[in-house]
Amino acid sequence: MDQKVGKYKVRDLKMAKEGTRLIEWAESRMPVLMALQEKYKKTKPFKGYRIAGCLHVTKETAVLVKTFVAAGADVSWSGCNPLSTNDAVAAALAAQGVSIFAWHGMNVKEFYWCIEQTLKFHPNLTLDDGADLIFTIHKSHPEFAQKFVIGGTEETTTGVHRLRAMAADGALRYPVIAVNDAETKWDFDNVYGTGQSTLDGILRATSVLLAGKNIVVAGFGHCGRGVAQRAKGLGANVIVTEVKPTAALKATLEGFRVMKMDDAAKVGDIFVTATGVKDVIVKRHFQSMKDGAIVSNTGHYDCEINLPDLLSVTKGKREIRENNEEYVTKDGRRIYLLAQGRLVNLAAAEGHPSEVMDMSFANQFMSQLRLAELHKKGVRLENTVHDIPEAQDQEIARVKLGTNGIKIDKLTPDQLKYIEDYSSGT
Ligand code: ADE
Repeated sequence: MDQKVGKYKVRDLKMAKEGTRLIEWAESRMPVLMALQEKYKKTKPFKGYRIAGCLHVTKETAVLVKTFVAAGADVSWSGCNPLSTNDAVAAALAAQGVSIFAWHGMNVKEFYWCIEQTLKFHPNLTLDDGADLIFTIHKSHPEFAQKFVIGGTEETTTGVHRLRAMAADGALRYPVIAVNDAETKWDFDNVYGTGQSTLDGILRATSVLLAGKNIVVAGFGHCGRGVAQRAKGLGANVIVTEVKPTAALKATLEGFRVMKMDDAAKVGDIFVTATGVKDVIVKRHFQSMKDGAIVSNTGHYDCEINLPDLLSVTKGKREIRENNEEYVTKDGRRIYLLAQGRLVNLAAAEGHPSEVMDMSFANQFMSQLRLAELHKKGVRLENTVHDIPEAQDQEIARVKLGTNGIKIDKLTPDQLKYIEDYSSGT
């Protein structure tokens, strides 16, 4: 481990060159963030602001961090999952002078130690993926909310749900912008990002043929829908399990079979949980799975697959290949658990492709900027969860289209008048 106290702790600084190349590759696919870097590198609107981030340390995240730094921010970073850090990228950021505490394969105690290190510089702004940084501040340093922090942003569905619950309880001590709820985030990152990267993770960990397999997707939210669509595209027979009637209905109209997990467990070849809730796959499901079943999770936390339950039916286990553990059940069946039940797309692959993270992270950047600009005007948003402005969404989509060389039509003044006119009928 390479460490400079108060500045960084990463696996191996010698990996910096490799990490820099990965970051350069991501930069070449993230034109919106690069345009923001260009736009704000002279004016440095974040000058004097300290941003603490807790989000997967990937090549795409590095481009976001570099964009903040270019715009004048002081940044301190940790990863938001023990298995998602790319050690080469972490080394590259440390070598470039960024304060970063992250390495692949850390334990839970180290995970929180890293978050604590990023709080030592008393951030004004927090950036989360899963809300662990916000929770740590609320639990261990509640006074920060008054003394230093002006606001935060949250990247993911799970985090936003929890923060809304906190806000409803009156427990949220500073305003948070729900980046996840931007249309240019959830309608792209959650669907196409999760869809592709989850299958990428499953394939890297297994290299199995997907065509003809029964793939059970638990949860038909945006992430589950993305996984189901991509699996179908590769020739799999997709089965969806759901708890929400409207979501289940949508899945049937997409042509997927919908059934209870109790029934799906018996026929599935590959399982992917994408629900955001715990105990989706439990003991009785493991007991009825086929020999050779592959089990994975793409939800934020590793609680969707009940691991103690899996262990309780197991007589032995071994790593059969990277990110793939074979559990032999007491009745002799083999169940393969990918990436220890953690986010398979980030632990076994590289997370969402740069092209979608470009939009998600443009939303992060713009939302942090909004908090800083309001602060400069003496405005503090209410201590609740805030949506991003519609204009920000449209602007990010407009720039993204432009970078793809795509032009779209514009409403004429007459058409605009028509839309707003409620006096005429048929
Ligand atoms: N979440 C999902 N994919 C990601 C990526 N490539 N970088 C950061 N966070 C992510």
